Amino acid sequence: MSEGNATGARVTLHLVSSLDGFIARKDNSVSWLDLTGSVYEAGVSVSEEEAAAFIKAIDCYVLGSRTYEHALELGWPYGETPTVVVTGRKLSSTRNSVEFYSGDLRTLLKEKLAPRYRNIWLVGGAILSQRFLELGLVDEIRLTIAPILLGDGLRLFGGSVTEERWDLKNVVAYKNGFVELLYSASSRPLQN
Ligand SMILES: NC(=O)c1ccc[n+]([C@@H]2O[C@H](COP(=O)([O-])OP(=O)(O)OC[C@H]3O[C@@H](n4cnc5c(N)ncnc54)[C@H](OP(=O)(O)O)[C@@H]3O)[C@@H](O)[C@H]2O)c1
Repeated sequence: MSEGNATGARVTLHLVSSLDGFIARKDNSVSWLDLTGSVYEAGVSVSEEEAAAFIKAIDCYVLGSRTYEHALELGWPYGETPTVVVTGRKLSSTRNSVEFYSGDLRTLLKEKLAPRYRNIWLVGGAILSQRFLELGLVDEIRLTIAPILLGDGLRLFGGSVTEERWDLKNVVAYKNGFVELLYSASSRPLQN
């Protein structure tokens, strides 16, 4: 049972998965995230202003080092929003908004993030997300399902996440065929 991170800040895990549960192809590519052509008439669309306002409300991003390196290659998607990259290596900083962290993840949240930020977005990858989930540091999961089967690749949650109940809070289907599922950490014990 997860009781949230108990710091007062909210940690949202956001990932985009294929229908068959992969977040990247075997070669790490994520070009399938930019799928076009699929139109779901009953879906909603989001204006640029709405998207910008939503993103503006995010106080901080947290990334694993592999996601960081991939984001640098693809084109930085996090703008000037403060971003913490978790790594045990000495990586060189390429942007003023980026800082590196090495060490205990509970300490990261309690001592570095929660005092400064309210709306914290953990945006992958799979390895770092699993560590956060295992430690009960995630308050909500915002999972977007892309309308594609990849067949192989990097598993969303791999095999190391333990059985745990989450409460569905919202579902949004978009015109482009993507579906967003929002879950919050359940305060109820798991029922069989
Ligand atoms: N579809 C999506 O929504 C989505 C989102 C994000 C990423 N991705 C894709 O996922 C892939 C990367 O994911 P990934 O699972 O391979 O890697 P990752 O989670 O991005 O990064 C893993 C690295 O983070 C560091 N790390 C993790 N836990 C740590 C801890 N407790 N303490 C210290 N360092 C820790 C380690 O870095 P060091 O080895 O440097 O010590 C580890 O090798 C990329 O292809 C990316 O494009 C997809």
